[in-house]
Amino acid sequence: MPSTLPALTLRNLTIGPPLFLAPMAGLTHSALRQIIIGFGGVGLLSTEMLGARRLPSESPRFSPFLFRTDLERPLSYQLLTSSVTEIGPAIAALHKVDAEAIDLNIGCPSPRIGRFGAGASLMERPDEVRQIVAEARKCTDLPLTAKIRLGIEFNEPSLKEFCVMLEGEGIDLLTVHARLKKESFARKPHWEWVAKVKEWLNIPVIANGGIFSVADAENCLRISGADGLMIGRAAATTPWLFAELARKIYGSPIDQPVVSLPQVYFTFLALLEEHFRPERRLGRLKEFTHYFAQNFKFGHHLATRIQSTPNLSEARTRAEAFFADNPTPAA
Ligand SMILES: Cc1cc2nc3c(=O)[nH]c(=O)nc-3n(C[C@H](O)[C@H](O)[C@H](O)COP(=O)(O)O)c2cc1C
Repeated sequence: MPSTLPALTLRNLTIGPPLFLAPMAGLTHSALRQIIIGFGGVGLLSTEMLGARRLPSESPRFSPFLFRTDLERPLSYQLLTSSVTEIGPAIAALHKVDAEAIDLNIGCPSPRIGRFGAGASLMERPDEVRQIVAEARKCTDLPLTAKIRLGIEFNEPSLKEFCVMLEGEGIDLLTVHARLKKESFARKPHWEWVAKVKEWLNIPVIANGGIFSVADAENCLRISGADGLMIGRAAATTPWLFAELARKIYGSPIDQPVVSLPQVYFTFLALLEEHFRPERRLGRLKEFTHYFAQNFKFGHHLATRIQSTPNLSEARTRAEAFFADNPTPAA
């Protein structure tokens, strides 16, 4: 039965339905966002993580990380930093590109990012995070959000202190990827820990991790009591999932998505050609294909054929051949 959950309002921004696209490096660029918007149902889009240091020198028109069309609204820009001095110039750059919201990455577990003290490793240094958030809050009136994991180890008092600190410094919404820093995607997300966070805070709390279907979303909401959901990998595998969730969970009056897998794939490819420089296209197609191919029983064949393709036109030929041989998606 559709619930009557209201849209979320963060400052001047209305997010309805409360369905969020997760920031994903190499995936949540303009082409995928346009595909998702085409199906509908998403409340807030996201960029991938953007290094705060480089941001002020990136061109909004030519940077594959910053480029967006007018359709892609509202759009949250995710900042990756471990340095309070980078915050001011980075946020000034985001004001110039007309960001609708700004997210702070406090959840990326990659060791490469951790070496710079950024991402999830920030959770080990709450005093620095306090300064970063306070500075960000001083620099913008836009909705300011943060995305965290559950921490390094399960530790309720320290997670509570961290989350309460974020709220106290002016974060407007918190997304919780319900895994510890070291837990891989193979581990079941701990949605019950999102329920704890929700109890501690007054701001909206969004649950993230392991949502691939309407049933997953219903379970996650039941267990976590979250104010909304953030979808990551499934946004690349099934970009129409937002529309399904919006209809079935939030009762949004949008059309049942009609999906032709080849059409989605070739539209994505055409959007890459339209908006990205040639050298920026193939890597993004390979990354997307890794997820999208999971719609097919023998999708690994598509993924490996695209992985070794030398150029986009050969990718198109290989994909056409695959779709001709594999008309039936995975059950
Ligand atoms: C390819 C990939 C790239 C990611 N990049 C980011 C990122 O830039 N920033 C971030 O906060 N999380 C990043 N994540 C984590 C996702 O935002 C999300 O938290 C995670 O995938 C769990 O959600 P899911 O189970 O719905 O995929 C990334 C995940 C993947 C798979």
